[in-house]
Amino acid sequence: MALLDVNDLSLTLRSDGTTLTALRRLSFQLEAGETLALVGESGCGKSMTALAIMGLLPAASARITTGTIQFDHQDLTRLSPKSYRQIRGQRIAMIFQYAMRALNPVKTVGAQLMEVLQLHLNMTRRAARSRAIALLERVKIPDAARRLNDYPHQMSGGMSQRVMIAMAIACQPQVLIADEPTTALDVTIQAQILQLLRDIQRDTGMGLLLITHDLGVVAAMAQRVAVMYAGQIIEQASVMELFDNPIHPYTQGLLRSTPKSGLPGERLFAIPGRVPPLNALPSGCAFRNRCPLARAACSEQIPELDHPRGQHGAACLVNAPSRPRPEESYDYIA
Ligand SMILES: Nc1ncnc2c1ncn2[C@@H]1O[C@H](COP(=O)(O)OP(=O)(O)OP(=O)(O)O)[C@@H](O)[C@H]1O
Ligand SMILES: [Mg+2]
Repeated sequence: MALLDVNDLSLTLRSDGTTLTALRRLSFQLEAGETLALVGESGCGKSMTALAIMGLLPAASARITTGTIQFDHQDLTRLSPKSYRQIRGQRIAMIFQYAMRALNPVKTVGAQLMEVLQLHLNMTRRAARSRAIALLERVKIPDAARRLNDYPHQMSGGMSQRVMIAMAIACQPQVLIADEPTTALDVTIQAQILQLLRDIQRDTGMGLLLITHDLGVVAAMAQRVAVMYAGQIIEQASVMELFDNPIHPYTQGLLRSTPKSGLPGERLFAIPGRVPPLNALPSGCAFRNRCPLARAACSEQIPELDHPRGQHGAACLVNAPSRPRPEESYDYIA
């Protein structure tokens, strides 16, 4: 069994008296040492998926309605809060989206790092301090011993992101979930942080669930990729397969909307419209209002991900891995 095995996971959210399906029948696996990218437009449910794995869903509004999250022979969806605390932060850690805001502004970064070590690993203050320095060195913060006394506002964006990574790897987790770890950073810092995550993964063999909307990051980092749309995984494949042979019209559009040359004047493609809000999903396929291939049948049933384990799969009634490609192409917009 995979290190982390999410199987048929659905999640509802209650808001304003109505119940909405935020995640719909997600299945994916993450192996040790592997990077799986979770991609998709804003609001498609990437962070929600991460919070579900971490057991950090808003208790008052969110409910897991189907499926399991298997980690080390236990189903996390059935774990008591106490048992979850022994896994969260220690064996499964997360770098949160907007990580820089997750640091406590009134405590030094050293105090925050040491707190994690003392809490989870029962270290003495002294041991925690020297381990905190080692961790800051591991994430390549120069002059680590002195930076321990810095407050978050004294650090640049790239430096505070390194601190967040140091905190996340403090207990040598088997799984690291990184939710848009580089989105807020400029390009050179972004490359350094990604390289750092890769190095740590090489050293520790952790599985990395990398959440991003940036296909360049996917290509640089991941072996496999799951594409989400409106709470569903609509395509899943190895990165090479997905880039070479995208099946779902949404994935095709997403790939076409990524700048390739980086040269001025490159014509960019945009998928028309936007991800519908959860309370206004169309019947049938959630993408059909934006889809150039949509036909009558697409409004009648929600396509399931046709995805034998480990193979290329897509949730589309028109384009399927097992079916020959239709003549139409995705060329209708300049
Ligand atoms: N507490 C909440 N109550 C109700 N709906 C919520 C709540 N939090 C998120 N949502 C909705 O759940 C859906 C998924 O949100 P999520 O934050 O997982 O998206 P995302 O893919 O991470 O987007 P982004 O790329 O912007 O981070 C969205 O439609 C969002 O509006
Ligand atoms: Mg998010």
